[in-house]
Amino acid sequence: MTFNIALVGCGGMGRRHALGYIELRKYFDTVSLAAVCDVHRDVASTVAEIIGEATGARPDIYTDFDEMLERADLDGVAIVTSTPMHHRFAIKAMEAGLHVITEKPMGLTLKACRQMRYVASTTGVTLAIAENFRRDPMNRLTRALITSGVIGTPYFTLDMHVGSSNGAVMHSTVWRAKKNQAGGMVLDAGVHNADLLLYLMGGADSVFAETSTFESDRTLRPMSEVAPGLAKLYDHRREDGYSTGDSVEHTAVDTAFGLIRFDSGAIGQLSMTDTSHGQSLAVSTISGSDGTLYRPRSRSGESPRIVRRDGVEITGDALLELVPDFELDDSTSTLWDGARRISSYDLEFSTIDSKILAYEYLDMVRAVETGGQPEVGVREGMDALALAYALMESGLKGAPVTVNDVAEGRVSEFQDEIDIEMGNSWINCSAGGFLGIPKVFSLDIRARIFYGFDRLQVSQPRQL
Ligand SMILES: NC(=O)c1ccc[n+]([C@@H]2O[C@H](COP(=O)([O-])OP(=O)(O)OC[C@H]3O[C@@H](n4cnc5c(N)ncnc54)[C@H](O)[C@@H]3O)[C@@H](O)[C@H]2O)c1
Repeated sequence: MTFNIALVGCGGMGRRHALGYIELRKYFDTVSLAAVCDVHRDVASTVAEIIGEATGARPDIYTDFDEMLERADLDGVAIVTSTPMHHRFAIKAMEAGLHVITEKPMGLTLKACRQMRYVASTTGVTLAIAENFRRDPMNRLTRALITSGVIGTPYFTLDMHVGSSNGAVMHSTVWRAKKNQAGGMVLDAGVHNADLLLYLMGGADSVFAETSTFESDRTLRPMSEVAPGLAKLYDHRREDGYSTGDSVEHTAVDTAFGLIRFDSGAIGQLSMTDTSHGQSLAVSTISGSDGTLYRPRSRSGESPRIVRRDGVEITGDALLELVPDFELDDSTSTLWDGARRISSYDLEFSTIDSKILAYEYLDMVRAVETGGQPEVGVREGMDALALAYALMESGLKGAPVTVNDVAEGRVSEFQDEIDIEMGNSWINCSAGGFLGIPKVFSLDIRARIFYGFDRLQVSQPRQL
């Protein structure tokens, strides 16, 4: 089977998806990127040309998602737009019977995610989340080391990313400065940290955090200054009405210091800020009854490192002896040129990034073909976002929050403002509002869908 997919959103990450697709085609022909879509035609064209040149088949170009859904012959869509469009496009696509892979974060808020979950379950299509960090072979190895008990019982984890953006906006993208567009380092990048912590430590129960927006006056600086390693991938993108040097009001949280209680009883500290001028601190460790594991930077290719309680240090291939059953799955192994048991690798960032993105497409198509779940699906996508938003909710409340309450909408004060602005977008983008909602739903359900489940006083736990 060839799975026809469209890439929607051709900015920085869209271009990286295109490179991921090109990498995929070197090893597999199961996916065909048939169309690209971006509101900026020139941006979409750049990405279409890159794909055409590398694969010999240039995808069709669209600037309107609805028109693309109507005209293109598709099995699925990859949504790589800025975050506010994720749920809108995912829901439209799923209602049209298409499978979806959407970039992280899964949705703008947990309410958006609950709507996506509802539509995925009623339509029965696959909804996958393109969360990439955990797919790094070094994070696979790290997990194998933890679960095989190499550091004993995990007691606590430290995940601290304290640095300075020097008053710039992350990735030179204005939308990343805005709370109402799921911006800010703590949310946009923090959702990766959240997913990895859950992947390595298991479920999270509660969070207490202090949060702040210390620097609301920011400047749009060129990518070559802000993130030189990604600059080449972002040089074609643009945001209407903004140019380099502009002042931007940063309304998103820029600093969070959070404490997590995991279901296992372990404790986590997740601290992130881009306002730490003159000080840079990156710590990612897991400590247990028998020692500490130092996690490598995701996509660096570096080996994890363990220091046992007796002071002995273990890293590199010696780690593999501790996990004799560890090996990469078939798809990852193929993409990593046949590697099965590796403790490090040496590749360019762009190549690593592409291999991981290629894997995400394979994982999604495997789920479609087998009727199984993608590795990162609705549950994992929501869990990670709920943990990231739990920091914000707790920070606003000044008290601990339960992560599940955030996921299911029982705690939502921080997100309420975003949800109100978001409105009933998914209904507007489906077949015409209350009266257009299929009559297979009871009147009560149709009314609740139309007015938004979360706004009605219902005694049972919210479902969407
Ligand atoms: N997994 C990762 O490592 C990773 C890294 C970067 C970004 N991301 C995620 O990818 C997404 C995109 O981020 P980015 O950095 O590429 O942002 P970007 O601003 O560079 O690109 C977004 C693109 O979406 C397009 N777009 C916006 N609204 C649209 C619409 N209605 N129809 C069609 N196109 C539309 C824009 O024109 C733009 O080209 C975000 O959700 C972000 O969180 C993930």
